[in-house]
Amino acid sequence: MEEELLIRKIREGTVIDHIPAGRALKVLSIIGLTGGEGMVIALVMNAPSQKLGRKDLVKIEGRFLAPREVDKIALIAPSATINVIRDYKVASKRKVELPDVIKGLLKCPNPDCVTNQPGEPIDSLFKTISRSPLRLVCQYCGEAVSEEEVMGLLTKG
Ligand code: CTP
Ligand code: ZN
Repeated sequence: MEEELLIRKIREGTVIDHIPAGRALKVLSIIGLTGGEGMVIALVMNAPSQKLGRKDLVKIEGRFLAPREVDKIALIAPSATINVIRDYKVASKRKVELPDVIKGLLKCPNPDCVTNQPGEPIDSLFKTISRSPLRLVCQYCGEAVSEEEVMGLLTKG
């Protein structure tokens, strides 16, 4: 593989592969990694790919992903594959999959939405209307969210 000419295999951690070209930094950002955490992170951008033409790839040594982090990645990198590496082997491999209902990951863009009111916090709740192109609808106020908007609406945590 061309990529292995660029970076070595990792011992223990996560390889996020088949990221749409140009989105690796966004993927790192939505899982909250800045590089300041100290773990070894390898990033390949615009590598040739049979499936995608070009792809990005992120390797994180010593870090595994929580299910909600995988759901966040599915929102911005629907083609991504998550490989869990243990003792240098691919212990599991799965494609990210955007759930039909997305709870608490995105802030509704409608300021009047009940999920944006002060007081009792209510988790946002979006229904996946379409995956390609991405289109989500708030289950409380009906506001639609497009692929371009998602990045800016992803919540911390
Ligand atoms: N990988 C790694 N360190 C390891 C094992 C695998 O960094 N110890 C990386 C590989 O370089 C590759 C990804 O994890 O980017 C998945 O590995 P593998 O399944 O062996 O590669 P492919 O068969 O090319 O994957 P796919 O079929 O998903 O394209
Ligand atoms: Zn709403």
